[in-house]
Amino acid sequence: MDYTLENGNKFIIENKNKINTRYRLKYHMMPPIGWMNDPNGLVYYKNEFHLFYQHYPYDSNWGPMHWGHFKSNNLIKYEDLPLALAPTNQAIESGCFSGGAIVCNEKIYLAYTRHYEKENYKREEICLAESSDGINFVKQAVPIFDNATLPANLSRSDFRDPYICFINGKYYIFIGGKDITTNEGVIIILKGDNIYHFEYDFFIGPYYELGYMGECPSYKRVNGVDVILVSGCGVVEKNNCYKNANSSVFIIGNIDFENKKMNVKQIKEIDKGDTFYAPQFISSFDEPIMIGWFEMWEKKYPTNLWNDNWVGAFSLPRKLEYIDGNLYQRPVFDDSYLSLIDGNLINREGLIKLEAASDFELKLTAINGDVKIIYNKGILMLDTANSNNLNPCIRHTSNKYSNINAEIYLDTSGIEIFINGGIETISSRIYLDSSYKIDLVGNAVLKKYNIEVK
Ligand code: FRU
Repeated sequence: MDYTLENGNKFIIENKNKINTRYRLKYHMMPPIGWMNDPNGLVYYKNEFHLFYQHYPYDSNWGPMHWGHFKSNNLIKYEDLPLALAPTNQAIESGCFSGGAIVCNEKIYLAYTRHYEKENYKREEICLAESSDGINFVKQAVPIFDNATLPANLSRSDFRDPYICFINGKYYIFIGGKDITTNEGVIIILKGDNIYHFEYDFFIGPYYELGYMGECPSYKRVNGVDVILVSGCGVVEKNNCYKNANSSVFIIGNIDFENKKMNVKQIKEIDKGDTFYAPQFISSFDEPIMIGWFEMWEKKYPTNLWNDNWVGAFSLPRKLEYIDGNLYQRPVFDDSYLSLIDGNLINREGLIKLEAASDFELKLTAINGDVKIIYNKGILMLDTANSNNLNPCIRHTSNKYSNINAEIYLDTSGIEIFINGGIETISSRIYLDSSYKIDLVGNAVLKKYNIEVK
């Protein structure tokens, strides 16, 4: 197949009405059709957010990666724009893998992974594409880094997902990588005087939490600390953490760019659920807002298996704040979409706010299943095992709380819970077919809102 931007855009326009809309989310961003994974190139450009993503438009399974493109003013409502990148030269590029973006000289520059894989040969190179209108992107033929200059212990073929940023007058690129001598994940840092040419600088890691390969690093300073978002492949489960195929963590500390090292204070799993991966910070924007893939690898994807012709979504954009040694995640969400409701029914698109100081059990029952949120002995648990999602998920907080304050964002096929100001979050997907009847056992103060995003 000839993967050109023209073919991809034509296919999307001609086929997007063939998706089944029953589980389409109302306020989470999703591809118009086909497959989506990682958020890519999240960037603020000329007063708008441009948000790209790993995309295979032709099928709701992963395939040769293109970059899909959304534009948004407020990170909730969004518009689909034409594809930004396609693997046009199959002789050197079997996919345009993940990467980041930066605004420079009034242009958006995308730093992406030119991935090539055939039989037993694999190559991943860091390439650039640029746009002066925010819609049409032109790829530069020559990679901006020569993999042969990497130290011998670092893999030159598992070397992907550049995140580009500007720090202290220099350009830096954070890359997901692997130490091949120990088979452990690392974050590789390149440095450049300009955006077109980078040299190896140093690497951070390895860490247990990066598994056998680091993916999708992203970087931002948050209230006086350096925060790296990074995802580890095959991290082994430990202490209520890393229960999914891959895991995303915060690495919090201080990066000493002069002396090429990071002083790490804390490494913490970002979300306790089964559907949060590969988050990235919005670049060229002051506030530390990240968006993750509202899915996970190696799961069953109901909207694929049931031929709905689409898979994948963005998580709610989450703003980070570092207070007294803790990172908090707050959903970026506009209260004007909320309307307070009475009664014991809630739409599939709603928000529940709960406060309690003693055990409770909240059950949301639909015609074909239910979701349970249970607070017991200080631990909050989300149980979506009976929610028709094909991936039994029962997950709970790592902390114990003497009081619980939970914001439960429900969307047509998803749930994200922000606990005690966002010090922990749990997310999962649910595929239920009616409004929910709310049953609460225990003493909790509960407020319910419908969410309507027009
Ligand atoms: C992470 C990831 C990236 C890669 C992309 C391919 O989910 O594996 O490392 O660039 O997905 O689609």
